[in-house]
Amino acid sequence: MDIEPVAMVLRSHVGSTRVTWVCLDEDHEQFAWVNRLIVERGLSSLVEVRKMDYRDVPEHSGYDKIASVGMVEHVGRANLTAYFDKIVALLKPGGLALNHGITSAAPEASGLGSGIAEFIEDYVFPGGELVHASDVLRTAAGSGLECLDAENLRPHYGTTLWHWVTRLEEHADEARRLIGEQKYRIWRIYMAGSAYAFDHGWMELWQVLAGKSIDGSQPNYPFKRDYIYRGE
Ligand SMILES: C[S@@+](CC[C@H](N)C(=O)[O-])C[C@H]1O[C@@H](n2cnc3c(N)ncnc32)[C@H](O)[C@@H]1O
Repeated sequence: MDIEPVAMVLRSHVGSTRVTWVCLDEDHEQFAWVNRLIVERGLSSLVEVRKMDYRDVPEHSGYDKIASVGMVEHVGRANLTAYFDKIVALLKPGGLALNHGITSAAPEASGLGSGIAEFIEDYVFPGGELVHASDVLRTAAGSGLECLDAENLRPHYGTTLWHWVTRLEEHADEARRLIGEQKYRIWRIYMAGSAYAFDHGWMELWQVLAGKSIDGSQPNYPFKRDYIYRGE
């Protein structure tokens, strides 16, 4: 099943075969857009989107899987323990969590130098803070998660961003009409600069898969990694 890009997806079993998806995002436009797609694709009985802060999700539900995509960058170093504690509290024993997020390549840095971090803070993502991949792994472990797999998608994301820049430029007139000249220029320079930063290894994009163990034994997780590329 396609899951649209909301910030966090929680999956839980209903009966033996059906699954339900709960998607979270604070952003009103993403919420409205994903809701419209769910109705259009006839998925209303399987997928529910909640416009809410992940910290407010009740902890009694017990989810099998949680995927957090592009949201940890908004959490910040100071709140990282609370973030992983919340994920652990929401997972069932044996459950899996995927954390997908941009990280700083420099272990002690929280953003890029030369005024780039300030530009992003002022114009693109206010309140964001990058941590190092080792902070993600260490904090997740401290909250009780076992890291099962970790992959750095840095070169992939550089390539993806160049594609986005090209597409934006190909649709420049339409973009300017929708969001105005200033936003068009902000996003063009932000994405091109980010592509350059990923290409040069200043930022990384890590997917970390972690499990909540059942009485110390390994969560239900494939023995080999070939499942990742199945279907390619
Ligand atoms: C960079 S966007 C990524 C969106 C999407 N996952 C994607 O990959 O295209 C980050 C998203 O995280 C959401 N977000 C940030 N803090 C959040 C929070 N505390 N609870 C729920 N969503 C949050 C924002 O609303 C925003 O839509």
